[in-house]
Order: sequence, then C-alpha cells, then structure tokens
Amino acid sequence: MNKQLRKAVIAGNWKMNKTPAEAAALIDEMKPLVKDADCDVVICVPYVDLQTALEKTAGTNIKVGAENCHWAKSGAFTGEVSAEMLTSMGVNYVVIGHSERRTYFGDTDQTVKDRVRAALDAGMTVILCVGEYEQQRLQGVTFEVVGSQTKIALGGVSKEELSRIIIAYEPVWAIGTGLTATPEQANEVNSFIRKTIEDLYDKEAADAFVVQYGGSMNAKNAEELLAKPDIDGGLIGGASLKAADFAQIVKAASK
Ligand code: 13P
Repeated sequence: MNKQLRKAVIAGNWKMNKTPAEAAALIDEMKPLVKDADCDVVICVPYVDLQTALEKTAGTNIKVGAENCHWAKSGAFTGEVSAEMLTSMGVNYVVIGHSERRTYFGDTDQTVKDRVRAALDAGMTVILCVGEYEQQRLQGVTFEVVGSQTKIALGGVSKEELSRIIIAYEPVWAIGTGLTATPEQANEVNSFIRKTIEDLYDKEAADAFVVQYGGSMNAKNAEELLAKPDIDGGLIGGASLKAADFAQIVKAASK
C-alpha cells in the first residue's frame, strides 16, 4: 500500500557504545559509504557523542539524534537531558520509549507520552519505539500491547505533528538476540500500526507514516525485511556500530 509515498529511514541506535573518539572514527568510516543513500540516514548516539557527531556529519546526508529526552524543559531531574538542550545544539532527532528504557529505567506508556510531547514541542522528530515481550507474543496479545503503546504515546498529537513521528516496531524478543522477526511477522505488526494510525487520524496520514522495524536487523536480512510493503526502514542496534554493515542496510533501503 503506497510505499512510494514514503521515504525510508534507516537509523542507527548506538545505545551505550562508543566514546567520542571512537564515534569520530566510526562516522569517518561511514560517511563515504552512505553518501549516495536514497533514504534518510540517522545516527542516534550517546549524549556525550552528540557534539562530535554533529561536527563530523556537518554538510553530509547523515542526521544526528539522541537516545532519549526528558519531558520537562528544565528542573531538578538529575541525570536527565531536555529536548530544548538537544535542539539548542542542533540535534533534531530523538529515540523515545525504547524497550531498554522501559525495562531498565522505568519508562511507562505515560512518561513516553510526556517525552514525545516535549520533543514535539521543541520541534524535534521522534523515533517512537513500541513492541511486545516474548511472553506477550506467546499469549497472543501482541496487537493489544503495540496498539495501546501507540495510542497512548500519540495521545494529543495532532495530524500535523504526526509528520515528525516515526514508529519503530521492535519486538523485545528480537533485540540483541540475533533472533529476527520473520519479514511476515514484522510486516504484520507494522501494517497493524499503520491501521492504528488510520483509525486515529485518516488514510492520508497512515499512507505517509513511516514505520520501521528493529530487532537484529543486519546486513544479511535487511533486504528481505525492507522489501515488505509496510516496513519503511529500520532502527538498527548492533549492526549500526559497524560502518560496512550499516552501509549495507542503507543500500538495501535505497532500492
Ligand atoms: P539490535 O539491532 O542490536 O537487535 O538492536 C535493535 C534495537 O534495539 C534498536 O533500537
């Protein structure tokens, strides 16, 4: 359905990897390999690497994102970083609601919604992560889980703002496990997410909406996943830390 209406987005999520010096080296290696991409290329990096990433990617087709942001503009929130702080540096993308944040750092559907609000208000583009745990898939509640995560996070988001949201479907059981959802499984949930957008907004919004897949996407399986009609890109963990592998995925998305 109307995949031509959407430009694929390949985003790296570096998680807690790479010092600034290592980040600089990885970006230098990556730049020439992705320069002809016919898709959007984003790298979401640790806060301490943002300045380096901005400097190293200046004038290239690589966009820089953070891996989280707080819901308040400022205040007594030790260890947190606000959306305004990010945009003031020139960082315009942010991952919100990653399952590692939800699992280890207490992010809830409500705090994810609040963080999305703050990021949108600051003018950022959000990569919103949703996905079920293995047990939830086994119990047949994947659609309920993904549907409610999506609906709650998008509460109060206008149709106009929706153009600054990307959803990454990341089944938790496929993250960092080497276990990938089959292209059919991934496409089924991505298609469900698009239908949820249509129900919340309208068909025009749903047709234009980018839904990525994430979870052990790599240089080998990317092409098959990205060929599916509702998979508009990827959020890449481990493989985004290797320039050649990440570039291969970018190439697969550029077809
Ligand atoms: P992996 O690609 O390492 O499985 O990680 C996926 C992910 O969590 C991206 O946000």
